[in-house]
Amino acid sequence: MIILVGYVSIEGQSRKIAETIAAQIEKSGDRAVLFNVVTGAEFGVDHPQAAILCAPIHAGRYPVPFIDFVQRERDWLKSVPSAFVSVSLFIRSEYADEREEAMHFPDALMAETGWVPGMVHHAAGALRYTEYDFFKRWMAKRLAEREGAPTDTKQVHEFTDWPALQHFTDEFLTAAKA
Ligand SMILES: Cc1cc2nc3c(=O)[nH]c(=O)nc-3n(C[C@H](O)[C@H](O)[C@H](O)COP(=O)(O)O)c2cc1C
Repeated sequence: MIILVGYVSIEGQSRKIAETIAAQIEKSGDRAVLFNVVTGAEFGVDHPQAAILCAPIHAGRYPVPFIDFVQRERDWLKSVPSAFVSVSLFIRSEYADEREEAMHFPDALMAETGWVPGMVHHAAGALRYTEYDFFKRWMAKRLAEREGAPTDTKQVHEFTDWPALQHFTDEFLTAAKA
């Protein structure tokens, strides 16, 4: 099976997540077409038979080029088994209301685009303080203070649960082939 693994990533964590999913797909004997939806060229030549899309939340929403991509490809996405990986920080918050908010981030995407993925996985992202510019570091630290995440700006903090992502990918592969 050929599976499109499409992603958009501003700071690199969603790309890392997409790469991990693609590697797992290839390991299982299927073919993954890893595709950056912002910079990638046409993927149609490969005729993917399923799709997993990954996108991060920044300032309360998914990046606009990602929403544009889903809108553009909506009919195709509806015609194949598909899944969505939502990457956020709120999903690992100390506070239940923020975790709840994160659970609903995909609702707005679905309402805006009309795409309803068969499976949704919520992955906690990362805080790459050392790679941010001054303003972004300040914003990220404020966000971290608000939700109980680490605020040591001399380090990179990665929160993604890799075994849970692997389990989700396995489940998707099984469902897509059924
Ligand atoms: C400036 C900035 C704003 C963010 N805003 C939010 C937010 O509103 N809600 C949230 O849950 N996570 C937020 N995050 C956390 C990101 O979703 C997280 O860092 C993720 O790993 C980013 O994915 P990317 O590396 O693929 O861009 C923000 C991160 C940064 C740096």
